[in-house]
Amino acid sequence: MAGMPGSGKGGGMMGQWAYAKATWQTGLPLRRIPALANGSPLPGTFEGTLVASPYSASLIPDHATDLWGYNDSYPGPLIEVYEGQHVDIEFTNRLGIDSTIHWHGLAVPADQDGSPMDPVRPGATRHYNFEVPPGSAGTYWYHPHAHLTNTLQVGRGLAAPLIVRGADDPLRMLPELTLLVTSLAVDGDGRVFAGAVARPGMPVMMMGGVGELLVNGQKHPVHATTPGATERWRVINATPGHYLRLQLDGHRFAVVGTDGGLLSEPLPGLTEWVLAPAQRVEIVVTVATQPSARFWLRDLGQGGWMGTGAGAALMAIETGAGPAQPRVDVPAYLRPIADIGPASARQQIVLSMSGMGASGRFLINGRSFDMNRVDLETVVGRVELWDLINTTYMDHPIHVHGTQFQVVGRTVRGLAAPIPYVAWLDTVNVPAGETVTINIRQPLPGKRMFHCHILPHEDAGMMAVLNAFAV
Ligand code: C2O
Ligand code: CU
Ligand code: CU
Repeated sequence: MAGMPGSGKGGGMMGQWAYAKATWQTGLPLRRIPALANGSPLPGTFEGTLVASPYSASLIPDHATDLWGYNDSYPGPLIEVYEGQHVDIEFTNRLGIDSTIHWHGLAVPADQDGSPMDPVRPGATRHYNFEVPPGSAGTYWYHPHAHLTNTLQVGRGLAAPLIVRGADDPLRMLPELTLLVTSLAVDGDGRVFAGAVARPGMPVMMMGGVGELLVNGQKHPVHATTPGATERWRVINATPGHYLRLQLDGHRFAVVGTDGGLLSEPLPGLTEWVLAPAQRVEIVVTVATQPSARFWLRDLGQGGWMGTGAGAALMAIETGAGPAQPRVDVPAYLRPIADIGPASARQQIVLSMSGMGASGRFLINGRSFDMNRVDLETVVGRVELWDLINTTYMDHPIHVHGTQFQVVGRTVRGLAAPIPYVAWLDTVNVPAGETVTINIRQPLPGKRMFHCHILPHEDAGMMAVLNAFAV
């Protein structure tokens, strides 16, 4: 498509967003994201230290790139914790602007949630303390959630995986990979392209980002495995706003988990899976039995307004030499998924837009975000139906803090459509012009954000405050 942001040519309205892309080194062995060390000697406690600061990264040959990172790394360190563990993270903000750490998807107390209401000032240190909720085993991530600067902070590198493990994991026999997908726009001199992190940047707003898609901070890394191996991959969409339509050349895969952990039963035989911004998916892949085969994990791209044109390769998989591994069957049942129960209230959340371009606002129930206002009220433990009604011409991935919910209704071209499976989600895509109905309850009291997780939309107003009262 002529004039696509990032094409290096530019033209028309999008010309100002073109930049000379860096030449990335490709084909390196896939990096495993190092885990944050647990400083506590007690098994029931995880203590760690995170410092957010600018630092100089080597991403492309011969040039340094000024990124923002947790503990000078991109992506930030993996936090691996257990259900029921007490977590104490000491966080220091050396960014020069307000920041926070938000534990995306975990039901932690409102004052530990890293919301924009609790900024950590430049130079300040605070502790985040919470218990890892029982039943929360799954794949999460953490990122800043400061007022109006999330596109900038996440777009400059602040994002990292968080894995919760449970006592009983029906897939514990499988080797695991954590694949954190980010997008980063770096020019030929190694500079982060300002248009990609400006607020509200046109390309990120309209196209979901102009950067390169990276896996664990690498472009086109190679995952070396063995013929016929069966593996569990946890994929995290940590891009500021890019929909990933995942496909594995010549392979089918099973989806076994979503944002809040395992499904009750695997969804086998899939050829693609759409991962909206901020969502996670756990898949089980059995790779080809031929030795020395090479194939790609790809993003097929998405058409329409949110489209980023042709799909991009994400990661190569190589089977290497050696005899084929014996087949491993995924258990038919993974774990029970509780029914949230019958709803006793119903709320409407209407997504809309006003204006165009850089002055455009993204609204929830007709209003732009104001953290000093409460937009919606609920009672702790009350089950509610929320109708998420998208009146705009683009999709919005809607995320609610403090809980995991289930989709119970949706429309396709305005008609009620079946729900193919039950899953725990904290982020759900609401397609353009459609309605998605969720069953939701807040387990803990306090004020919570809910918002679009296309970060430029969030920064441009598509966020609101829910207050949960304790009774
Ligand atoms: Cu991933 Cu409100 O955040
Ligand atoms: Cu969140
Ligand atoms: Cu949006």
